[in-house]
Amino acid sequence: MTAPTGVASVAGLLGDIAGTGRDASRGGYSRPVFSTAERDLVAWFTDQAQRRGLDVETDRNGIVWAWWNPAGAPLTGSVVTGSHLDSVPGGGAFDGPLGVASSLAALDHLRARGSAPARPLGIAVFPEEEGSRFGVACLGSRLLTGALAPERALNLTGPDGTSFADAARAAGLDPRHVGRDDEALSRIGVFLELHVEQGRGLIDLGAPVAVASSVLGHGRWRLTITGEGNHAGATLMADRRDPVVAAAAAVLAVRDVARQHDGARATVGRIVPVPGGTNVIAGRVDAWLDVRHPDDDVTAAVVAEITRRAQHAAAVEGCTATVTEESLSPTAHFDAGLRERLREVLPGAPVLATGAGHDAAVLADHVPTGMLFVRNPTGVSHSPAEHVEDPDAEAGALALADALAELLTAPA
Ligand code: GLV
Ligand code: MN
Ligand code: MN
Repeated sequence: MTAPTGVASVAGLLGDIAGTGRDASRGGYSRPVFSTAERDLVAWFTDQAQRRGLDVETDRNGIVWAWWNPAGAPLTGSVVTGSHLDSVPGGGAFDGPLGVASSLAALDHLRARGSAPARPLGIAVFPEEEGSRFGVACLGSRLLTGALAPERALNLTGPDGTSFADAARAAGLDPRHVGRDDEALSRIGVFLELHVEQGRGLIDLGAPVAVASSVLGHGRWRLTITGEGNHAGATLMADRRDPVVAAAAAVLAVRDVARQHDGARATVGRIVPVPGGTNVIAGRVDAWLDVRHPDDDVTAAVVAEITRRAQHAAAVEGCTATVTEESLSPTAHFDAGLRERLREVLPGAPVLATGAGHDAAVLADHVPTGMLFVRNPTGVSHSPAEHVEDPDAEAGALALADALAELLTAPA
């Protein structure tokens, strides 16, 4: 499918940023929030928006908004689309940027059709959707909506010890003004995010684009196991209190407990022995646990059982273990009326649930919200193997344009 004159192709837009934030050691992209790579992407987006004559502003939580407002109407109750530009460590090229590039291309489509809507269309770019730097996913939308207290956000620290407050300040934000922003939120009359699909749903259904139904409930916990740091050569096996051994047992317990609960997913994707040396018995292990299930009570039961098993594993090694909640989001169901409207506009699109988290799920508690997914032929995400074929990307942008055109006639 060739894009009409004046319409940027999604592949071309993503091609502009294909060299930004590549991670030579992990493969794929590492674009943590407020890093040089992520800031370069925000600058690219700003440039793209300004070339289109959009008004670009960054709000006090670091969310970048670009407005197309041909009628000069008030921004309250606008139609808003967008996504994020930060990534997980070693992530793919599409998780986030596909939605941003598709938003720009969809706007081009609307203009190429001669559309001049009476109400504004906004494109929003949310910071720290992945939570890969400061630990809490969807940090920008949580701050915007008040789901996360500013004091808590400002004190979060990244792996290098930098606080969110300091990183935000370095990125030009004023930490004193971070937090719930009813005025910014009131501008969203309806929010529609396009995202690469992160599983195999659309492969199995043989369709390029889906309408989302729900986002699986999910949470993150920090598991800390404390033992005794010591010398790898001078310490007999019987004399050790090695938290790495306890962590290994705890990780096996995570898998076993999740398997006992239908539909549960539990992952330990980050383990840090402290201080971390080949010839050093660690004094402490920090590990992060990601648990997901549609039912919050089941999630709580899974985490309680994992905690019990981790504490037992720690005690066996003469160590102690603590498990602390860092974030928790219940299953989000997207607005049913909006979903039906999207299905009418996109009659061939199936309806799919997702196990991945999104800013759209945070916003869904406050405004009518929906999502579109674009087929990922590998079915793999949070990995360099994540992929979207060019024709599917263009079909996604066209679907987004059709959906936005409908919403611009009446947002809610
Ligand atoms: C983000 O993609 C998440 O699901 O954690
Ligand atoms: Mn994402
Ligand atoms: Mn992601």
